[in-house]
Amino acid sequence: MDNSVLDALICPVCGLEFMEVLSGETALKCIDGHSFDIARQGYVNLLTGHGTKFTHDSAAMAAARDAFLAGGHYRELADALAATVRGALDAAGAVGVSTGGPAGRPEPRPLVLDAGTGTGWYLRQLLDRLDGAVDAIGLDISKFALRRAARRNAAAVNLVWDLWQPLPVEAGRVDVVLVVFAPRNAAEFARVLKPSGRLVVVTPRPGHLAEIARPAGLLGIQPDKEAALAAGVEPDFALESSSPVTIPLRLDPDDVSNVALMGPAGHHLNQRELDRMVAALPAWTDATAQFTVSVFRPR
Ligand SMILES: C[S@@+](CC[C@H](N)C(=O)[O-])C[C@H]1O[C@@H](n2cnc3c(N)ncnc32)[C@H](O)[C@@H]1O
Ligand SMILES: [Zn+2]
Repeated sequence: MDNSVLDALICPVCGLEFMEVLSGETALKCIDGHSFDIARQGYVNLLTGHGTKFTHDSAAMAAARDAFLAGGHYRELADALAATVRGALDAAGAVGVSTGGPAGRPEPRPLVLDAGTGTGWYLRQLLDRLDGAVDAIGLDISKFALRRAARRNAAAVNLVWDLWQPLPVEAGRVDVVLVVFAPRNAAEFARVLKPSGRLVVVTPRPGHLAEIARPAGLLGIQPDKEAALAAGVEPDFALESSSPVTIPLRLDPDDVSNVALMGPAGHHLNQRELDRMVAALPAWTDATAQFTVSVFRPR
């Protein structure tokens, strides 16, 4: 558990700070005595006792997402994301990434919050590309996803949390909030960001994987998704830039099956339907992934 990141967190029960976690300790405790177990894999469930009405990603959905991303199909998106985050940190004057601080003094490390971190693949790619020069928090409501994220990003603090609840993070502490295909709680993102911080959002564009929408049973992307995104965060954020990322893909039947399972459609698919769909696919299916990476500045 990275104690410098813990310093930015607050107890979701009482709002007070957490105590340092010493090596060998198996719980995260606030100064008022609220205690949250650290799971064997290293993540912490802060939602304990709260319950939640959201359908989280299942173990099968997390496994499919991991298998597909590990295939490297979306590496170009990870590159674009890392370049965007680096630019946002530079623009914000966050030290520690590409600039050096005064010799002999420990520099404050920029803090990235990955909202809806899933299996942590994009965060891992980002940390690798920034040479580990940032601290990170990963939040997700699915413990199945977080088990993988916590193993993958052991240096980050990974928390089971519902993004629609007030975030367990102090105001004005975060340099970049990253949201890759996950819910956007604009008011809370604005609260936890520094005034110089940035919100970086990845969304699919209309036409994303259209070639396999039918066989993979993908839910359609609303054509005005970008306008909806801007409008959704509008009261709290102003759009600073928006760049398309287009990736031609060549997918085998397992890839198509993983794409179907890993997205929102995965909540509704049954294995028999999926097996029938996969059996009917050709050896290779060409498709085009279409994303937008948007940067927003707090108003
Ligand atoms: C499509 S996945 C994207 C995961 C990851 N960013 C990636 O691209 O690999 C959406 C993620 O959002 C999480 N999620 C959905 N609703 C959530 C909520 N209310 N609070 C926290 N996480 C949520 C899901 O569990 C899932 O891991
Ligand atoms: Zn507490």
